[in-house]
Amino acid sequence: MEGTIKGAELPVKAPLLTLASGAKIPSIGMGTFGSDHNSPGEVSAAVAGALRVGYRLFDCAAVYGNEENIGTVFAEAFASGLLRREDLFISSKVWNDMHGKGDVLLALAKTLRDLRLEYVDAYFVHWPFPNYHAPGCDGDARNPASKPFSLKAFMRVWGEMEKIHRMGLAKHIGMSNMTIPKMEAVLPLCEIKPALIEMEMHPAFQQRELFDYCLKRKIQPIGYCPIGSPNRPDRDKAPGDIIDTEMPEIKAVASTHNIHPALVCLKWQVQLGSIPIPMSVNERNYTANLRCVTGAPLTDAEMASIAGADKNCRLVKGQVFLWPGAKSWEDLWDINGTITK
Ligand SMILES: NC(=O)c1ccc[n+]([C@@H]2O[C@H](COP(=O)([O-])OP(=O)(O)OC[C@H]3O[C@@H](n4cnc5c(N)ncnc54)[C@H](OP(=O)(O)O)[C@@H]3O)[C@@H](O)[C@H]2O)c1
Repeated sequence: MEGTIKGAELPVKAPLLTLASGAKIPSIGMGTFGSDHNSPGEVSAAVAGALRVGYRLFDCAAVYGNEENIGTVFAEAFASGLLRREDLFISSKVWNDMHGKGDVLLALAKTLRDLRLEYVDAYFVHWPFPNYHAPGCDGDARNPASKPFSLKAFMRVWGEMEKIHRMGLAKHIGMSNMTIPKMEAVLPLCEIKPALIEMEMHPAFQQRELFDYCLKRKIQPIGYCPIGSPNRPDRDKAPGDIIDTEMPEIKAVASTHNIHPALVCLKWQVQLGSIPIPMSVNERNYTANLRCVTGAPLTDAEMASIAGADKNCRLVKGQVFLWPGAKSWEDLWDINGTITK
């Protein structure tokens, strides 16, 4: 069964994809959100272990509260001489409380200082509105200052993203938690188009339309919660949420390949051309997650059976970002095909 750690076979080399810029990016990375359960020290220890086993792509964010710890790990890796900066693809994100005038540069400066880097490979707008929630808040928390999406406000933030890209501080810029109606509104106005889109993606929530929309425009999708985020914060848990690793279609493929269902979720996503960023603080799990992309591929029939198993079950509903007057979390996701205001 995949998952046994054998040092002699490390590090694992994940196949690379090519972005529209021509830059290379690993086909799988590691997430670094401790989900309000794993401490900054636990996550940064996992990043150190992940570097050893072969991860070269790391998805960071200021709001995860651990960039300083992770920065120490990167600095030690470079100082050891075993890794060069250009061997890694490191991304981070501007949090929702930094959408004010001049804030993107300030936010990135702090991230660069914390991660101890001179540039990030990708910088994302974490959410497309300035709606702040405190780390660790519960699902009923609401900020009365929250606002619906505003094209004008978003484009001002994007203009600052374009500036930090031109300054060489972010090699690529991207968006996260977008919808097709929002993409349709913003793309014609971008001087520099997003190179990457980060979106929730797992077998029970495939977002095929958004995924295909991005691929068609040479925007690389990065899939978050790729295993269905079993330890996500309580605010992101709702009755009726599907557990990906317990879906019969996933278990059937796992049994055929003699692998854990979590690895089926990852192999499926990599084969589609998305880049999953699973998080784990468990060495056996994160090693298996990386290694599975070099193992036997899923068959066309297995890919088709997973495609047919989509449950449209969004896990990160984002209700804590709702503005006064909004009806439900669905207002954040433009369900009826137009931007909800
Ligand atoms: N852009 C955004 O708004 C956004 C939103 C959410 C997440 N993200 C990013 O996406 C990353 C991944 O999402 P996520 O962490 O929520 O969910 P996830 O990667 O789907 O699930 C992580 C959980 O799965 C468990 N796990 C990992 N590998 C496993 C394996 N092989 N077998 C069994 N269990 C396994 C881990 O537990 P163990 O630690 O015990 O292995 C961990 O608790 C985040 O860390 C973050 O970087 C971005």
